[in-house]
Amino acid sequence: MVLLDNYSAGTVILQIILLVKLALGDVCDSIEYRIEQSCCLMCHPGSHVQKHCTVGDRDNTQCDNCTVGTYMDHPNGMTECFKCHICDADLGMEVKRNCSKTRDTVCDCIRDHYCIDLKEEGCGTCKKYKKCVAGEKVKRQGTRVDDVVCEDCPAGTFSDMEMATNCTKWKNCAELGLIGVLSGNMTSDVICEEDPASNHLSYTVATAVTVVILIILLGTVVCCYYKKRPTVKAIICSHCLPGSTVAENEQANARYELATLNVNEQANARYELATLNVNEQANARYELATLNVND
Ligand SMILES: *[C@@H]1O[C@H](CO)[C@@H](O)[C@H](O)[C@H]1NC(C)=O
Ligand SMILES: *[C@@H]1O[C@H](CO)[C@@H](O)[C@H](O)[C@H]1NC(C)=O
Ligand SMILES: *[C@@H]1O[C@H](CO)[C@@H](O)[C@H](O)[C@H]1NC(C)=O
Ligand SMILES: *[C@@H]1O[C@H](CO)[C@@H](O)[C@H](O)[C@H]1NC(C)=O
Repeated sequence: MVLLDNYSAGTVILQIILLVKLALGDVCDSIEYRIEQSCCLMCHPGSHVQKHCTVGDRDNTQCDNCTVGTYMDHPNGMTECFKCHICDADLGMEVKRNCSKTRDTVCDCIRDHYCIDLKEEGCGTCKKYKKCVAGEKVKRQGTRVDDVVCEDCPAGTFSDMEMATNCTKWKNCAELGLIGVLSGNMTSDVICEEDPASNHLSYTVATAVTVVILIILLGTVVCCYYKKRPTVKAIICSHCLPGSTVAENEQANARYELATLNVNEQANARYELATLNVNEQANARYELATLNVND
């Protein structure tokens, strides 16, 4: 009895709700959609309505899966799925997540691009980073959502390429021992050249040094050559005996000269001979020894 009562009560309440709905017009359940006078059960995400339900049977809605390249991301009473978005490479976009039956494509920005239309997922529109030109440097690199920030090179510095991270200080010609021939600007360095005056001076100095070195070298060679070379006293061998020594020959010479001289001169010659005997014989002997060793 109690159960029956409850059942009856439930039925009554449902009928009242239905009456109120009809009275208000188009009120359907949250899982239903309205088509003409009926409320039909919705199709699931990933599908669309192929055939609406028949009047009085809200459950017989016919659904069909979304075809490739289309999607449906919520319960629906629509007869077609949505077209998947294409990530346009020409606009700096790439696929972050492919389209599926239930979710649209998610696009993102490629390298050197930033997002100017950020979505819940991915990006709607991308833009290329600006380029810092010569004469500028990158003040701040671009981010996912911010463009690059460029800045002019400060005075006394330059940059000669795009996207330079630094501006380089101008050369100081004087410090390099050169002279400036072209002043620098924001895009070009100072141009230095060799000082022609200092060049001439250094050339002169180099020549002088070379000459001095040559003279010293030559002097050393000449000096050593003559030092090493023992002076061999030339012997006039008018009376040299074959196979005799230098000393013997000189004595023979001297003796011959002695014989041809007069008395006084003979005395002189005899003295010289005596001297020769002692000193020059020693010299000759020494020279002979040296000659043997060197040769
Ligand atoms: C829809 O796709 C699901 C799998 O995703 C499959 O089980 C189902 O049979 C498909 N329905 C139709 C009508 O093709
Ligand atoms: C998307 O699908 C294509 C082929 O259908 C595949 O080559 C690519 O790697 C996929 N991209 C992602 C992000 O899954
Ligand atoms: C050049 O920039 C880098 C950072 O990009 C910095 O670390 C470096 O010190 C800079 N060099 C000069 C000479 O300013
Ligand atoms: C900077 O100097 C270079 C070489 O001297 C020259 O070609 C260029 O026009 C100059 N730029 C500016 C902005 O003065």
